[in-house]
Amino acid sequence: MDQRTVSSVIGGRPVTGAPGGRIRSANPARLDEVVADVALADAATLVTAARAARDAQQAWADVPAPVRGKAIAHIGRLVEDNKEALAKLVTREIGKPYPEALGEVQEIIDTCDFFLGEGRRLYGQTVPSEMPDKQLFTFRNPVGTVAVITAGNFPVAVPSWYIVPALLCGNTVVWKPAEYSAAAAAAMYELFVRGGGLPAGVFNVVYADGPTTFAGLEQALDTGLIDKVGFTGSSEVGAAIGGLAGRHLQSACLELGGKNPMVVTANADIDLAVEGALFGGFGTAGQRCTSLGTVICHESVHDEFLTRFTEATAAAPVGDPFADVLYGPMIDIKFAERFDQFLGWIGAHHKVMGSSGIGRITAANPRAGFVGDPEAGIFCHPTIVDGVRPGDKIFDRETFGPLVGVTTYRTLDQAVELANAPGYGLSSSIYTNDATEAFRFRRGVSAGMVSVNNSTSGAEAHLPFGGNGKSGNGSRQSGVWVLDQFTKWQALNWDYSGRLQKAQMDVAELTPDRDFRL
Ligand code: UN1
Repeated sequence: MDQRTVSSVIGGRPVTGAPGGRIRSANPARLDEVVADVALADAATLVTAARAARDAQQAWADVPAPVRGKAIAHIGRLVEDNKEALAKLVTREIGKPYPEALGEVQEIIDTCDFFLGEGRRLYGQTVPSEMPDKQLFTFRNPVGTVAVITAGNFPVAVPSWYIVPALLCGNTVVWKPAEYSAAAAAAMYELFVRGGGLPAGVFNVVYADGPTTFAGLEQALDTGLIDKVGFTGSSEVGAAIGGLAGRHLQSACLELGGKNPMVVTANADIDLAVEGALFGGFGTAGQRCTSLGTVICHESVHDEFLTRFTEATAAAPVGDPFADVLYGPMIDIKFAERFDQFLGWIGAHHKVMGSSGIGRITAANPRAGFVGDPEAGIFCHPTIVDGVRPGDKIFDRETFGPLVGVTTYRTLDQAVELANAPGYGLSSSIYTNDATEAFRFRRGVSAGMVSVNNSTSGAEAHLPFGGNGKSGNGSRQSGVWVLDQFTKWQALNWDYSGRLQKAQMDVAELTPDRDFRL
């Protein structure tokens, strides 16, 4: 298998040396297979990248938007022509099942397809003035230079949600992908630069660890080199990055964690709800920000749902992500270690089910029906925890990994209260055949995204994506909504009357007859 050497690229040139050290990105399904040897940058390298992006920005903004749209179109076609190769790399590097990896690459293509036409729109408005011989206009201006920091669970799709619209709008970009998905990032970087024919400095990539990135970002912000930060990752780091951006009077685009609820009502189609819970909870080994956190089941259907959900989970194939499995390995060893801590939150009042064991799947702790060799990689048992309730860490906090909590409710108001209790607000779902329940849930739930009779994960790429509360600061990605992240509105008023007409003061008055009555 090929092994890549990956290093940062600034202004079109690979950075030599590894001032931040070297790491190996391994295949989490076969740890002895090194996918990439990654040279890490230091904080100064990130600042250099921001300067290169700053230097290239005006010329890129001067490229007409329809031409930038064509660049996005070409990127989309090149990604399409390399779809299988990129998806294979994603599966090898982070262990996402191959069909999901193909879907992930498709999400880049869909994003390009959406934004290629935006190059010919990027509409501003003509607005009537309150005075004669005067016209008002609005323009969308690029924000400037954008730093994009992304996680490794969606190593190429989620970055494209930032990078594609950012470039289209005339911004230049410094991208800091997750170190443990560096090979996929390097491949995507090549496809974007070559596919788009992007001039040097328009798109730069820097590989660095978290603390180094934070330090470099702070310096770049202090020296006025970065105008916008996009971040996908944990709520904790998101709060720190949001604070840093705020100190520089910027508002970061934040896509953070979730504790995504699924309400199963008394009249729900239970088979459908089980299917949704299985995919939402255990697809991608529960390592999506949109993964199902807690099933909130009406007490009248709790036992039936739990029995069927447990059966389906116990029977689901887990293992080799290139085989036909529900899920593969944990993305990286650090996620497996953290997942172990989450399992430690299981208390005496909880009932655990879903597999032949809990924790790491090994020869000594086997999973019935495992596909492949569990010891070769980092695989974890799917775990259902029944009887969770507010005050339990397992109910209150995100548990990134294959773990789903189950609780019960009596009235829909209680279900909404339970859904909102952890204080996140990314995705949510309700299974019901009653439209009133669906709309009452939509109105009450704090989440930015609501599914009816569908799982919490698997959002389409052209609806607003984002969350509230601990899931984000209300920023939205995707579709037309993300344009507000990467452009700043500029208002223009043009007076051609030849005199100074004062707003609010020199405005004509019509005289109404206010005493008139029928
Ligand atoms: C994420 O996990 O950061 O809606 C994004 C979904 C995917 C995106 C998840 N399209 O589940």
